Amino acid sequence: MEITNVNEYEAIAKQKLPKMVYDYYASGAEDQWTLAENRNAFSRILFRPRILIDVTNIDMSTTVLGFKISMPIMLAPTAMQKMAHPEGEYATARAASAAGTIMTLSSWATSSVEEVASTGPGIRFFQLYVYKDRNVVAQLVKRAERAGFKAIALTVDTPRLGRREADIKNRFVLPPYLTLKNFEGLDLGKMDQANDSGLASYDLKWLQTITSLPILVKGVITAEDARLAVQYGAAGIIVSNHGARQLDYVPATIMALEEVVKAAQGRIPVFLDGGVRRGTDVFKALALGAAGVFIGRPVVFSLAADGEAGVRKVLQMMREEFELAMALSGCRSLSEIQRNHIFTDWDAPHTSRLAPRL
Ligand code: FNR
Repeated sequence: MEITNVNEYEAIAKQKLPKMVYDYYASGAEDQWTLAENRNAFSRILFRPRILIDVTNIDMSTTVLGFKISMPIMLAPTAMQKMAHPEGEYATARAASAAGTIMTLSSWATSSVEEVASTGPGIRFFQLYVYKDRNVVAQLVKRAERAGFKAIALTVDTPRLGRREADIKNRFVLPPYLTLKNFEGLDLGKMDQANDSGLASYDLKWLQTITSLPILVKGVITAEDARLAVQYGAAGIIVSNHGARQLDYVPATIMALEEVVKAAQGRIPVFLDGGVRRGTDVFKALALGAAGVFIGRPVVFSLAADGEAGVRKVLQMMREEFELAMALSGCRSLSEIQRNHIFTDWDAPHTSRLAPRL
């Protein structure tokens, strides 16, 4: 039966993958309240479509850090993609470049920066965790830079790994035939312990001394941290709660977005990830001020289901749905997507705007 939306890949992946792998990809932290909320919050935002507008021609293209892409939908870093499919990150890289968009490679990838670069042309960002040993960090960044990666996405919400109970029950480990390719030859011991719980805003300054690549700060969900990111020279912010895998009971990213956008004051672009599964979700994020979105789980699930073809199909469906949402709301370009094309149930807290008005 034909797959008609991105969500359908999850059930196929669940059937195909070993339980340990599926659970690792799917789960969130602790009660998984934020995991459900990342999706639910989108359903509390409704459209105010404009219709007396000619939408014959729709342009979804945009520019991210100076790079032109075909649509404001990019690929978030997700670790260990070869557990999903033997071609893992290669397949993802090819699918992203065929769709004319950006792939972010996880530093915990099962393919190295050089291997991903060798799959062909494409605009790619490298996601970075900061380790206690700053030499390791410097080496990783240099390699990514030499391999042609265009930006660093510095993940700042992981001073420790969140508690994902399915992984504890399953005693999750990377299957022995795979390795974290970017760390081959580097003695890091256990990854979790290697993460630097001392990462702070001044590390952003330090990173800028070792690379000229622009740095996106990934994992900000408050105005306070947004202001710090701007002050310390970030090139952009990704509003993210790590796909609800870190601190449970943080708000859905779509609810935190506007606060961060306001704090950034237009000085740097703000992006969003978390629960984006529909073209309408993309539209809602842009209406609330995002410059673009990233998708995480749909990539690993479609990869598991159908390799590169699956990821291509996800990007194609998201693209078509987003274009349709633009057309049906009367928007011909991304700049025409405005706050007043949507309303949220937190716009008027005392009188539910979602209830029928008599
Ligand atoms: C992630 N995420 C993540 N983030 C990061 O900075 N480095 C990483 O290595 C990973 N790895 C990872 C693995 C898996 C299986 C998931 C689901 C997520 C978080 C990711 O970049 C992104 O923030 C979320 O996945 C976005 O939410 P959705 O689209 O999965 O709902």
